[in-house]
Amino acid sequence: MAAKVFVPRECAPGETRVAATPETVKRYIKAGFEVAVEAGAGESAHISDTAFKDAGAEIASDAKGLWSSADVVLKVGPPQQNAKLAADEASLLKEGAVLVCHVWPHKNLEAVIKLRDRKVSVLALELVPRITRAQSMDTLSSQANIAGYKAVVLAAAKLDKYFPLLMTAAGTIQPARVVIMGAGVAGLQAVATARRLGAVVEVSDIRPEVKEQVESLGGKFIDLPMDESGSGEGGYAKEVTPEFLEKQRAIVRERVLAADVVITTAQVPGRPAPRLVPADMVKDMRDGAVIVDLAADSGGNCELTQNGKEVTEHGVLIIGYSDLPAQTSADASMLFARNVQALTALFGKEGAVELDLEDEVIDGALLTHGGEVRHKPTAEALQGGGST
Ligand code: NAI
Repeated sequence: MAAKVFVPRECAPGETRVAATPETVKRYIKAGFEVAVEAGAGESAHISDTAFKDAGAEIASDAKGLWSSADVVLKVGPPQQNAKLAADEASLLKEGAVLVCHVWPHKNLEAVIKLRDRKVSVLALELVPRITRAQSMDTLSSQANIAGYKAVVLAAAKLDKYFPLLMTAAGTIQPARVVIMGAGVAGLQAVATARRLGAVVEVSDIRPEVKEQVESLGGKFIDLPMDESGSGEGGYAKEVTPEFLEKQRAIVRERVLAADVVITTAQVPGRPAPRLVPADMVKDMRDGAVIVDLAADSGGNCELTQNGKEVTEHGVLIIGYSDLPAQTSADASMLFARNVQALTALFGKEGAVELDLEDEVIDGALLTHGGEVRHKPTAEALQGGGST
């Protein structure tokens, strides 16, 4: 009998994305699965039940039944208490089911315990190794790309100035000055987007290898003293010393004070976001400047950021939304769904589910399996009774 894939409607506040699209539903059916989509699952991403039905999915009104009977559940956010079902999603899953979604285990240890105890095999999308073979499964990149784009568009909409250089009959308008901190996936997309809009863009990062990428997109790299490289494992940054951060702040300060827009995306995996824009720097920025802090969720790169909010401090608008991909629901869903489908293709073939624990990608992403927590930092956090 063909295994059943279930795509529930997300119930977290503000979550507009869906983990499958008609395009990926067709691929699951081609791979031999049966697919059920909860009625209204695509509504906020503007995908109708009819579109899912036309792709071959069954439209399910009995979501609770499907949570408990599905072999594979595909979701965006972590399972949680679902008010509509009056149930905890993690507790509904059947033993041996596969759940594919973002889990952020260090913030959701209780859900991890439930999933472990129900012997669910959880493939946590944020744990997919960032190797070349898994690029098509990389939700962190696909969603960060959107956030970087949207940060610039939001800033441009709020700014009291044009972005491009304009020569008009009434005189010349100078281009906006944009400073971007952190040139990872989101930061590089922000550079590209701000350049397309005609701004002058300057960039700070602690990994020297990104200088070339920044310059190829038309940004100017702000050189830092490289007595300490910020390059860590797997292409990520490592935490730098407080002394280095102090030097960095002194160097970028002058650029920030001259900027109309500052977009911060600096993160160090597993650590609070580095503090790059302290309150006194904001105080000296020009009235009307805009900061978009994409690190708001992990403590903020700007001292005055409030997660999930827009605030004005010392005349500077500080935007701290951490749901920018969800504000771009159609494309965010399309890319997310393709990432999920590429991962699912590794273990679902000819309508059957078979997890190959020797596969580097499955091994890396498999958070819980057979009643155990396989992700070491999460297992340690559970043993210590604290967070990772
Ligand atoms: P991220 O979101 O963890 O970090 C964003 C950026 O913040 C990084 O560029 C980091 O160097 C920078 N940063 C940290 N501390 C800073 C500070 N004090 N000042 C300024 N910048 C600071 O990382 P993200 O964007 O998810 O990925 C980072 C890198 O990982 C990519 O640029 C790439 O090299 C690598 N990667 C590789 C992939 C693959 O091979 N499949 C896929 C995705 C990323």
